[in-house]
Amino acid sequence: MSTLQQILGTELPLIQAPMAGIQVSAMAIAVGNAGGLGSLPCAMLSPDVMRSELAAIRAGTDKPYNVNFFCHTPPVPSTEREATWRAALAPYYAEYGIDAASIPTGPGRNPFSAEVADLLAEFKPPVVSFHFGLPSEALLAQVHGWGAKVLASATTVEEALWLEAHGADAVIAQGLEAGGHRGHFLSHDLTKQLGTFALLPQLVRALKVPVIAAGGIADAEGVAAAMALGAVGVQVGTAYMLTPEATTSAIHRAALKSEAARHTALTNLFTGRPARGIVNRVMRELGPIGAAAPEFPLATSGIAPLRAKAEAAGSGDFSPLWSGQNATGCREVSAAEVTRALAQGFHASL
Ligand SMILES: Cc1cc2nc3c(=O)[nH]c(=O)nc-3n(C[C@H](O)[C@H](O)[C@H](O)COP(=O)(O)O)c2cc1C
Repeated sequence: MSTLQQILGTELPLIQAPMAGIQVSAMAIAVGNAGGLGSLPCAMLSPDVMRSELAAIRAGTDKPYNVNFFCHTPPVPSTEREATWRAALAPYYAEYGIDAASIPTGPGRNPFSAEVADLLAEFKPPVVSFHFGLPSEALLAQVHGWGAKVLASATTVEEALWLEAHGADAVIAQGLEAGGHRGHFLSHDLTKQLGTFALLPQLVRALKVPVIAAGGIADAEGVAAAMALGAVGVQVGTAYMLTPEATTSAIHRAALKSEAARHTALTNLFTGRPARGIVNRVMRELGPIGAAAPEFPLATSGIAPLRAKAEAAGSGDFSPLWSGQNATGCREVSAAEVTRALAQGFHASL
């Protein structure tokens, strides 16, 4: 079997997890130049910004890089569900003096599409990774057509087998500890979600393609443990969130540095899909998984004005404070330094 370095063309079998909303090209360039695989999360980027960020990566490094997309099917908006959501948030709108009628509806995240594939074809990124499944066969063939390697997140054995059967070149085992959105796509039953060290060895046994470990890996010891369980490499997100290359907000940085970061939960309140973040006021008061929240990504617009008002007052009460369960690796050092520190964990296995 090929090593992850052979598949990715990198010096290290280490992927900086794509983190939509908290990093763009600067992080990808820094990690790439330090020997890992830097990632550009594209789920929240307009085509123009995507193009300029891809150009910045090309100008900033000659190393391989990854571009990452969500592949959800956009839901049909329902005025009834939107009204239920706004009603659940109504006391908060009143508290902040927000006129609910003035809040625009609309999607907060865009899935991979034919237009995006054409844009990417101009750049031919060497690695493309997907969350929430894979795009259509035709789109995936287009991506493979320029020689890109395709990675995708699995949260269960069933999802991993599905990804392998549908063309993933390697599978990311995303354990329940992971920060940000869960990548599940075959079942929405959260009780089926496994921790990293339960999921990883099961995927290693079940798959022919290599398995990359993600979720809760925060230091060299965690890297070594994942490699000992059969991973060909690791994907790390949370540990990069305090680096100067991240665009993590001051409120989010303060939360990650505080004791609050010890308590995270899966919540659907911010986007409509379960994602792991530091527990804050709205998660406590509405319950982290709320039946009133509309489908992904439609919950985003209802909560956005509350987030804006609270943040303007210096509060993260309504912000998605994404974090994995293990924020102990978060340090205010460069992304290159985080990469080098994590790389110490490969010494036994390389
Ligand atoms: C702030 C944040 C944003 C994330 N955004 C994305 C994303 O846009 N695409 C994606 O595939 N994964 C995303 N993830 C999940 C990561 O790919 C990965 O599974 C996770 O960071 C690994 O767990 P860790 O955070 O404990 O290292 C995100 C994670 C975080 C912490």
